[in-house]
Amino acid sequence: MHDFEFYNPTKIIFGKGKENLIGKVLKDCGIKKVLFVYGQSSIKKIGLYDRVISSLNENGIQWVEHGGVKPNPVLSHTREGIEKAKKEKVDAILAVGGGSVLDEGKAIAVGAKSDVDVWEYFHRDKGITDALPVFTILTLAATGSEMNGYAVITNEETQEKLSIGSELIYPKVSILNPELTFTVSKEYHAYAAVDAIAHTIEWYFTCTVCPNLENRLVESIVKTVMETTEKILQNPTDYDARAEFMWAATLALNGITRTGYAGGVYVNHMIAHSLGALYDLPHGACLSIVIPAWMWWYKDKNRKQFDRFAKEVFNLPTAEEGIKALKNWFSKVGAPVSLQDGKIPSSDIDKIANHVYNTTAKLWGLDKIYTVDKIKEILYLAL
Ligand code: NZQ
Ligand code: ZN
Repeated sequence: MHDFEFYNPTKIIFGKGKENLIGKVLKDCGIKKVLFVYGQSSIKKIGLYDRVISSLNENGIQWVEHGGVKPNPVLSHTREGIEKAKKEKVDAILAVGGGSVLDEGKAIAVGAKSDVDVWEYFHRDKGITDALPVFTILTLAATGSEMNGYAVITNEETQEKLSIGSELIYPKVSILNPELTFTVSKEYHAYAAVDAIAHTIEWYFTCTVCPNLENRLVESIVKTVMETTEKILQNPTDYDARAEFMWAATLALNGITRTGYAGGVYVNHMIAHSLGALYDLPHGACLSIVIPAWMWWYKDKNRKQFDRFAKEVFNLPTAEEGIKALKNWFSKVGAPVSLQDGKIPSSDIDKIANHVYNTTAKLWGLDKIYTVDKIKEILYLAL
């Protein structure tokens, strides 16, 4: 077991109808006025928008709206939110939606307390020293943003998709009602499943110290995500399946599955963020294209973990069979598993590899291992 620090201050309120508590939760935390951040249309279609407003009004919480966050949230809209938060002098962010809405809410929380442009924090030119408190109601389980200190934003002018991470942007409280996810489309559910699996296996496969406790936690989350996804695709209103899936997705990136591992890196995310930035594909779809290719490329560098994965998750004897089984499963649930599936031309491989190298690889300190040529080798395996 490797040394670690674990910190997670987010309070989770989980269960049916819990979103109606939001006004009281904010009042109990001394909040008087929020910026209410949401996406395109889903929260209005499911009646959640009205319920949130009623709960805020009943508890005397003032609110200003910032709707229209797009999937793969963009910097220009984030900057608009920061202006609003400053002008209206809100004292908290309330983000209601999927990972994109939560992430934009977190970036606004940072920008609203800063005199410099928020993008400087994404380039890590500046450390985050202050942020408004963030509260969330989650409507799409996938990213773990509801219980972590990360936010990912795309600068649409420079075509960079980058992240910030800070203890200051862990949500104070996140409300998780699995019923709110009943309407998530099959397509997005598949991407969500890939994302949750990715968050756990990135460190599992790249660890140099790999304790059994962590390995088993990861395998449990992966198996739970797969099992519940098959039920959800059959019956989108299966409450228990939605509930287990939702909590599994939260646990996948709230820090718990990383404790005790040494050496882990988010290399598939590093490549996937470039696909997201260049082609605006859903995050989970970028990952399902990259993961099987990267696994094939990397398997002999940590053979023990790959053989173990095949056996524990699929009851198969070899790493190679495990990789094929995961790829088949991604495909079965409707996620793309090649550049071609994602409608990305093979002639773009050079451009993508250079993009990865010059953005996330350098920022995350992975450029020594993942050179342009190595990234190209991986991408050729995704054809
Ligand atoms: O915009 P609306 O109308 O809300 O529609 C959304 C969107 O079209 C819809 N949706 C959400 N809840 C729904 C619903 N549709 C029906 N019923 C509901 N209950 O689903 C679509 C996708 O939503 P989005 O928020 O984009 O999906 P997701 O939660 O997968 O978030 C993806 C973003 O999070 C980032 C990704 O890179 C991407 O930008 N990530 C954030 C991380 C974090 N903060 O820790 C880590 C991840 O690795 C990831 O990078
Ligand atoms: Zn992810």
